[in-house]
Amino acid sequence: MLEGKKSLFSGMQATGTLHLGNYLGALKNWVTLEDEYQCFYSVVDMHSMTIRQDPAELRKKARALLTLYIAAGLDPEKNCIYYQSHVSAHAELGWVLSCFTYMGELNRMTQYKDKAAKHADNINAGLFTYPVLMAADILLFQSDVVPVGSDQKQHLEITRDIAERFNSIYGEVFPIPELYIVKAGARIMSLQDPNASIYLMDDPDTIIRKFKRAITDSDNEIRYSEEKPGISNLINIYTAVTGKTIEETEKEFASSGYGDFKIAVGEAVANMLKPIQDRYKELTQDKAYIDKVIKENAEKAGYYANKTLRKVHKKIGFPERIR
Ligand code: TRP
Repeated sequence: MLEGKKSLFSGMQATGTLHLGNYLGALKNWVTLEDEYQCFYSVVDMHSMTIRQDPAELRKKARALLTLYIAAGLDPEKNCIYYQSHVSAHAELGWVLSCFTYMGELNRMTQYKDKAAKHADNINAGLFTYPVLMAADILLFQSDVVPVGSDQKQHLEITRDIAERFNSIYGEVFPIPELYIVKAGARIMSLQDPNASIYLMDDPDTIIRKFKRAITDSDNEIRYSEEKPGISNLINIYTAVTGKTIEETEKEFASSGYGDFKIAVGEAVANMLKPIQDRYKELTQDKAYIDKVIKENAEKAGYYANKTLRKVHKKIGFPERIR
């Protein structure tokens, strides 16, 4: 809770190219939460340091992601959109919380195990303590909910454990955050061909071409079924984009074949992305505006984050600052 309103935090790394699943599974839903919650959406650049990054590239991608948050419809007056590295309280609370987190707990994190296996030449301590920084992100803003994909469930559980452990010693400092399950779009898979991910900046022709090549089965019937993962994925995408139900979609395409359906899905996706892409291009030309958002929202995030940090410092016995 912040200012009498429930609050939430979520973040994305700027290191990958955003794809359709990121939009349907996250951004599109984030936009619907701004009236009910005090929302904090961070470009979590500090998390990105756990894997080697090219500095110029990281800076460029971070700005692109922040711009895309706005282009996707997040109003920066209502949603606090900022770079994690601009609010030092993340690192400071992360340190404190690391003293309330056990090695054994971190050792069990599947994302750590996966990443350690993938980057065997750089298993750094930051990779190991990544979940602690994530807990700090969430708890700094007194978050009640955290909208993330199911891959982050384990990280949210450890956040809750750390918060409960802290509270049991020092009193009710942190609300215990809940996972906010994103409904529509949560199950979008790639088009089963690694080359066929739909990127948010793909032009309409590319999008339609990728959908045409999507792998399906051979019975040519547009019906949702576990045995038909390819076509079911396309139906999921279509319903997430159009807001229609699975039944409505099956009916609409009852007399069509896969070819027509793929084009229809491709066109729906292209039409959905077009205004976002246009807005993105406009925004990239307005450097002053984006700079203003970056500055003002970092200040706003810093204000709330430091409030929590001061409370934590006081509880654990750090001496008061002399003014
Ligand atoms: N770990 C998340 C991911 O890889 C990103 C993230 C960092 C995050 N801090 C967070 C998500 C806090 C939700 C809340 O996708």
